[in-house]
Amino acid sequence: MSHFDFSFYKKSADYVKDVIKDEPETALILGSGLGSFADEIENPVSISYSDIPNFLVSTAPSHEGRLIFGKIGNKKVICMSGRFHHYEGYSFKQLSIPIRLFKLLGVKRVILTNAAGGVNESYSPGDIMIIKDHIKLSSFSPLAGENIPEFGDRFFDVSDMYSSALRKTASEISKSCSLNFHEGVYMYFGGPQFETPAEIRMARLLGADAVGMSTVPEALTAAHCKMPVLGFSVITNMAAGVIPNSKITHEEVGEEAGKISEKFSEYIKKVIMSL
Ligand code: HPA
Repeated sequence: MSHFDFSFYKKSADYVKDVIKDEPETALILGSGLGSFADEIENPVSISYSDIPNFLVSTAPSHEGRLIFGKIGNKKVICMSGRFHHYEGYSFKQLSIPIRLFKLLGVKRVILTNAAGGVNESYSPGDIMIIKDHIKLSSFSPLAGENIPEFGDRFFDVSDMYSSALRKTASEISKSCSLNFHEGVYMYFGGPQFETPAEIRMARLLGADAVGMSTVPEALTAAHCKMPVLGFSVITNMAAGVIPNSKITHEEVGEEAGKISEKFSEYIKKVIMSL
C-alpha cells in the first residue's frame, strides 16, 4: 500500500467531521485575491490547515490557510481560503488531498476559482470566464499511481467534468451580474514563471482562452470521484505578449482580482443559493 491510501485521506476527513459536525453540500476553493468570499459565510466554523492531519500548508503570497464551514443563505458550504499549487513544490498527488477531503465529508459539487491570463483577444482584465474545458500538456495527473477504488475507477471519463448543467446555471445567473462573462477553455501551465509570448501563441492556436497555474489538478481529482465541477477564471491580465512591451506582475494580478472581488462574491453567492 502506498502512503496515499484511503485511510490517509480518511484521517483528515474524520478530524474535520468531528469539528463541524455537519455535512456541507458545496465546496469552494478560492484563487488569488478572491479570498474575500470567505467573509460572506454565516456562522463560520474555521479550521486552520495546520490543525488538520495529513493536510497541506499554503505558502503562496495572498493565499490564506483556513478551511471554513458555514452557510450561504440556507446552503451549507465549506470553503478553502488559500489553495495549493504544484509550483509551491507539491506533487500532483498531494494536490488531490483537499478534493478527497470534501468527497469524504459528503460534498456534492465543487466550485473552483482562479486568477488567469487572457489569451482570447476579445477578453479584458476584470472579465470572468466560466471554464468549459481545459488543456494540460504535461502528463502529470493527481490520479497517477495506485488507484483507490473507494474514490473511483482506474480509467475515467472527463468529457463533462466542468458540468454542463452547472455551467448553464452559472450562465443564467450571470445575466443579473454587471461583470462581463465568457465561457472558454483554460490551459494549465505549471509556473511559477508566467508564460512566454511563444507559449501563449501556442495556447491560442490550440484553442485556449485563458491560462493559469491551478484548478486542473483539483478538477481531475473531482472528476475521478464523480463530483461535478463549476470553474471560474477571473481574467486579471492579458497573457504574455498579448499587449506589446507590457510585463505581468503578481501585484497586478492581486489588484485586478481585488477590484472585482465584491461583485464576484455577490455573484457566487447567488449561484450557490440556486443550487
Ligand atoms: N499566467 C498564468 N497564471 C496567471 C496569469 C497568467 O498570465 N495571470 C494570473 N494567473
